[in-house]
Amino acid sequence: MSQAGKTLYLVANWKSHKTWAETEVYLGTFRGFREEGNVISIICPPFPYLKPARELINSLHLPLKLGAQDVSPYPFGAYTGAVSASMLASYVDYVLVGHSERRRYFHETDHDVANKIKELNEVSIKPIICVDEPYLASQITAIEPQLLTHSIFAYEPISAIGSGLADTPEHAQTVAEQIHRLTQPNLPVLYGGSVTAENLTSFLSLNELQGALIGGASLDYNTWKILLNQAKDF
Ligand code: PGA
Repeated sequence: MSQAGKTLYLVANWKSHKTWAETEVYLGTFRGFREEGNVISIICPPFPYLKPARELINSLHLPLKLGAQDVSPYPFGAYTGAVSASMLASYVDYVLVGHSERRRYFHETDHDVANKIKELNEVSIKPIICVDEPYLASQITAIEPQLLTHSIFAYEPISAIGSGLADTPEHAQTVAEQIHRLTQPNLPVLYGGSVTAENLTSFLSLNELQGALIGGASLDYNTWKILLNQAKDF
């Protein structure tokens, strides 16, 4: 089925990878890259690269949006090591929240995720909320419903992340339907977990999905361009 007219989001989750020198080279290769109205390419590098990446994107007019990989659940204040939403507001348009690696390695709870979304809402940054099927209802009901309106969801089955074992598009479609039922029917839902140039189009072709959250396959700029070009063809 065609996605004609729909905005598609391709989100690059770099996780804890790359030096600034590598980041600069990666971004620089997008100089003159043809932008396509319906595809939004969002790069989420580590925190220290957000400011210089913003400057590079602005000065070279690169067709890329920036996102952060996390945000503090607290405002400005005595929270050692935390990066608050208002600190990010000058640099990013999107922030990933509730990624399963944050939940697993940093013990973030549904309550923390809900507070992060609240903080982002205060400064008009769009959250990309990562959820997984067994916990969909509890993960979603923890969030204040009025904060969902400007959110993007990413369905990411833990078993598919970094494993090479992507979910089936049919199953991803049913989970996206559940997310829509639990939230609002018009919210963008992305699929994430072992997305590659071989399987991206099978997910983009589903009418409930509006893009992908991509880890490993986003780290190489040539692959990222292939993925963007595939999305442009929809
Ligand atoms: P992957 O990671 O594409 O490497 O599976 C996706 C993610 O963790 O967001």
